[in-house]
Formats: sequence, C-alpha cells, structure tokens
Amino acid sequence: MSVIASAPGKVILFGEHAVVYGRSAIAVPVMQVRATASIEPSPPGSGLTVVASDLKKRISLSSAAEDEPLTAAARLTLEHLAVPIPDVTITIRSTIPIASGLGSGAAVSAALVRALASFSGSPLSAEEVSALVFEVEKIHHGTPSGIDNTVIAHEQPVYFVRKQSAKKVRLNVGAPFTLLIADTGKSSPTRRVVGRVRQAWRRQKARYEVLFDQIGDVVDEARRAMEAGDIRELGSLMDENHELLIELGVSSSKLDELVDAAHFAGALGAKLSGAGQGGNMIALVEESFANEVMEELKEAGATRVICTRVQQQG
Ligand code: MEV
Repeated sequence: MSVIASAPGKVILFGEHAVVYGRSAIAVPVMQVRATASIEPSPPGSGLTVVASDLKKRISLSSAAEDEPLTAAARLTLEHLAVPIPDVTITIRSTIPIASGLGSGAAVSAALVRALASFSGSPLSAEEVSALVFEVEKIHHGTPSGIDNTVIAHEQPVYFVRKQSAKKVRLNVGAPFTLLIADTGKSSPTRRVVGRVRQAWRRQKARYEVLFDQIGDVVDEARRAMEAGDIRELGSLMDENHELLIELGVSSSKLDELVDAAHFAGALGAKLSGAGQGGNMIALVEESFANEVMEELKEAGATRVICTRVQQQG
C-alpha cells in the first residue's frame, strides 16, 4: 500500500531573527508551494531509502550519517512511534525553492514525518509533527526558534514565542489580505545568516538587544493590526520591521531594491522575509494593485513572484 503526504511553504511576516532571542514573531503558511513525500513498499530486507528526486540524492537509512536531515526525520519518526524500520522507498518532491526563506527544509521534513506515520498506521497530530520537525531543524539550522516547524505543521497563521505551546500561538486574521512573495534568486542558507547575527550579537550585545526589543514591539503591534483587520497599519509596520532588519545587517542591496520597487508600484508595505541576505521579500498589496506590483518586482529582477491571500483558517 502506498501513502502520500505533503506540507506547505511559509513566510515570516514579522519578527525574524529577534524570535531566536525570545521575542515574538508572526508567520503564515504559503499553500501555493508544497513538499510531498510518497512511500512505496520495497522488497523484504531492503530497508528504508529516501530518494530526493530534485536533488538527485538517494540515501539509505542504514548507512546514512546521524546528522543527515532526511534520514534523521525518518529515524526520529520511527523512534517516536516505537516501530521497526520498514522496507520502503520514500520519494521527496518539492516546489519550494531551497535556502530562500520559504521553509523548504521544514516542509520536506514535515511531509516525510506525516507520510511515514500514516504508512505505519499511526497518523500524528500537528503538534507531534511540529516537535519532530523541530528536532530535524536543529540539524539544519543549529539554533532554530521553532517558528518554521510550527507554522508548517499547523498550516495556519501563527503568533509565535519560543517555548510557548502551539495552542497559544493561533492568530486570528481580522480581514483577508494579499501578499506578493518575490525571490531575489540568491540562495541564502538560514544557518549561515543566523550564525552571523549571533557573532554580531556577541560583539555588541546591548545594541542588538535593543534592536530585538524594537522588533518585538513591532510584532505585537502587527498582531493587533492583523486581528483588527487594519491592513494599512500592517503595511507601515512591515516597513518599520524592514528598517530594523537593515540595522541588524541581514538585508542586501537586491532585497532593498525589490522593497523600493514594491513601494514605487503602490505596495502598502514591504520587507525581507526569513533569514535575509538573499532569499525572498514580501510586499503587502491591495488586490487591485497586485498585478502592477508583481510586474514592477519582475522588472526589478525578481526571479519568481508568488501571490498569496492570507485569511482566517478553520
Ligand atoms: C527563519 O525562517 C527565521 C529565522 O528567524 C530563524 C529562526 O527563527 O529559526 C531567521
């Protein structure tokens, strides 16, 4: 019997980096891009193999290193379920660009965990999937805050503070809004940027703590604006957050150019999203302006623009 499961991408709306240092952050799932894991039984005695077709990788659980993220996701799931290693091939496919701030690593892990749990006859709750993916994220990123696994496993907008339980993080969206997600085309591994911020924080603790506090305040105002459906205020807060991210040193000239292009074409607000120094930026737009802003972003060099609508779910 074959099984298939998937998980969406994500964008951070507010609070990246500061969230690693205990401040709050807001993220939403991006359903237009997804990672998928499909499981097929394989001949008895063959063990568990993960095939990442896009990366042209084929990894056997029995010979993989402990910290190989794909097989680690499988191993952690089997340990959690307390079941023996099945004879299966797990094929991973993803439309989420890698190292671009859209949560590709966490989504691949979540799809794999879900598929393997269903195949084993014990589907897991979103909370359990999130906890297992968090363990894999530690291998990918070193010191993840936990926001990526949370938003991807729950597939709903979240207000997140490190170590708070998922039940406390559900966010109400007062009025739907439209986001454009534009790719600089430059990949930027989260682990590297988070590491650079940590080095800078060690050198200038007082200054970075103030910046993290300021970002935390913007996030809390954004939560209120989002719940009240005040989209204009949400736009200005995105601009404020972007300025603070520039001060943290995680923007880039390309990200700033795309942010300017979005404003020029009438966006209500724009900022980088995720680790920064490459990857994606986001622009908040009125629906009637979406095409114009999208064209302007492409003109300014965005390699891909996704349009997504954020609204209350469930
Ligand atoms: C990555 O999506 C967001 C960061 O804040 C890292 C993290 O929260 O783990 C940069």
